[in-house]
Amino acid sequence: MRLVVLGGSGFLGQSIVQGARSRGDRVTVLGRQNCNLYDLSSLVQALETIAPDALINAAGYSGRPNVDACEMNKAECLAANAVLPGIIGQACHQLGLPWGHISSGCIFNKTEAAQRSFSELDEPNFTFRQGPCSFYSGTKALGEEVLQDASQCYIWRIRIPFSNWDSERNYLSKLIRYDRLLEATNSISEVNEFVSAVLDCFVMRVPFGIYHLTNPGAVSTTEVVQMIRESGIADKDFRFFNSEEEFMQVAATTPRSNCILSCQKALQAGLKLSPIREAIVRALHSWVPENQALYQRAA
Ligand SMILES: NC(=O)c1ccc[n+]([C@@H]2O[C@H](COP(=O)([O-])OP(=O)(O)OC[C@H]3O[C@@H](n4cnc5c(N)ncnc54)[C@H](OP(=O)(O)O)[C@@H]3O)[C@@H](O)[C@H]2O)c1
Repeated sequence: MRLVVLGGSGFLGQSIVQGARSRGDRVTVLGRQNCNLYDLSSLVQALETIAPDALINAAGYSGRPNVDACEMNKAECLAANAVLPGIIGQACHQLGLPWGHISSGCIFNKTEAAQRSFSELDEPNFTFRQGPCSFYSGTKALGEEVLQDASQCYIWRIRIPFSNWDSERNYLSKLIRYDRLLEATNSISEVNEFVSAVLDCFVMRVPFGIYHLTNPGAVSTTEVVQMIRESGIADKDFRFFNSEEEFMQVAATTPRSNCILSCQKALQAGLKLSPIREAIVRALHSWVPENQALYQRAA
């Protein structure tokens, strides 16, 4: 398969590029450096020259070191998460090109009224329309709205990515590195399985639409910390905030979403996502510390 990846320099984009190349796909990375992505005719022209079989949009703005930064950079956040997907959708429609967009499960939040797991049929409830929400989540929900009528389009919702590669973007690394942790129960996504599922969508001709690409089940922060302790990769005194209120007062400027997503639709489509605890234990057992991870990735 000849593939174009937008955002191929990013955390998830790099994993998609590597995963696709290791399967033998020919991958071209398009980014702000080599194309005016926001100009429809420039993007169409670049895609016509490459003539790919499919496109994956891994470009987006999620803030560094975390989503609080999106509150300070609203214009870029809105452009990357809500405007850009619309332009890509127009370009792909014009070219009849199958494509997929990486969205986020953070457009849902467990509330007193919504305690259950969310499916693809549920309306997002952590959005500008149904606030309060973070600016980041609001723009990710808008990005999906823009694509409501998109043709030949997958929307993949990933949530709290983790893997065996130690890095500042890996959820497991964050738990090890943060000074204090917030107790919450969530669905989370193993990056390598997420990448395989994304690529399999095209190969297996999975019907276009929205898919929750999270590992089946949900885990609490305490459970993951316990698994980290048992794995022996970090021997520290994990400390927790007393409450979400304290976390908001001390460590955050914008609310976080916590939610459980149902991934039944993806499983029924034949996509492979292993049970959450199994995936975490596997990542911890094949853990690559950051200094070795950087070296091995570069090799
Ligand atoms: N990581 C997570 O925890 C997580 C969770 C759920 C969903 N997601 C979604 O997954 C996607 C990728 O996230 P990531 O963690 O891989 O992000 P990342 O590491 O920050 O990478 C973002 C990518 O998007 C590009 N980009 C950033 N701002 C842009 C803009 N204004 N216009 C065009 N391109 C822009 C960057 O390109 P440059 O090299 O040009 O900067 C980079 O290639 C995003 O849509 C994000 O919302 C991520």
